[in-house]
Amino acid sequence: MQERTKVTLPFLFDKMMKGTPLTMITCYDYPMAHLVEQAGIDIVLVGDSLGMTMLGYDSTLPVTMNDMIRHAAAVRRGTSKSWLIGDMPYMSYQASDESAVLNAGRFMAEAGCDGIKLEGGQEVTPRVRAIVAAGIPVMGHLGLTPQSVSSLGGFRLQGKGAKQAKKMVDDARALEEAGGMAILLELVPDQVCGLITDRSKIPIISLGSGPRAHGQLLIFHDMFGLYPKFTPKMAKKYGDAGKVIGDGLRQYVAEVTGRVFPEPERYFGIKQEEYAELLRLLNPADAP
Ligand code: KIV
Repeated sequence: MQERTKVTLPFLFDKMMKGTPLTMITCYDYPMAHLVEQAGIDIVLVGDSLGMTMLGYDSTLPVTMNDMIRHAAAVRRGTSKSWLIGDMPYMSYQASDESAVLNAGRFMAEAGCDGIKLEGGQEVTPRVRAIVAAGIPVMGHLGLTPQSVSSLGGFRLQGKGAKQAKKMVDDARALEEAGGMAILLELVPDQVCGLITDRSKIPIISLGSGPRAHGQLLIFHDMFGLYPKFTPKMAKKYGDAGKVIGDGLRQYVAEVTGRVFPEPERYFGIKQEEYAELLRLLNPADAP
């Protein structure tokens, strides 16, 4: 296979300008990151969705910076070439510019990320400016923003009404003007995503927001049947790794119980004379 070169910001903008769709996926650990790297994905997001997919919480809110750094560093070890984004968890940037810059810096210094993502529109532009001023690329996130799911009224389509959609268009413009390098639109109507994309000079990535964006994102666990609670309608399943693993585990239980596993080729012995000597050492009285 041809060796990949490191994805850079100019590479991503070049693809956008040429009209070549950008590929993005979430990833949370080393072995999956290795597969993502081999597949040649452009952008990898270590999302705070790991709170649900990896840690079993009901929402993303309990996720800490330390959780994020641990997973982001593991993903970086598996993919050196993709553009790696660390997702700022709940309350890691909301309180102040200073906390936002320090936490964004941790993703860069401790996990080797290429940039960070945070949720929100005009209200977070001071944070975006502060982080960008520290030399850290920022991806914005509009539409369904899971950290605000309570005030959004649940996991539902955002921007259905003209007024809400207009605010989203304004938010996207504000994030771009604040120095954002890209914007993720989650669960936004297709036409609204199209309008924002047409007006944007930075890459717009769609998660359930239709085909008109510059790129697409899917959640790894939704793609491969690995999240046991539900699969959102916007997610396409590309394989059922959950079934493969479940079948393998059931077979393992049956084989151990039936004394089929381990087979002779999967364990090791010592020479006959060493075994005899071992018995003698353990119990000299029985020695011949
Ligand atoms: O945490 C995450 O994976 C995300 C996606 C839902 C966009 O923010």
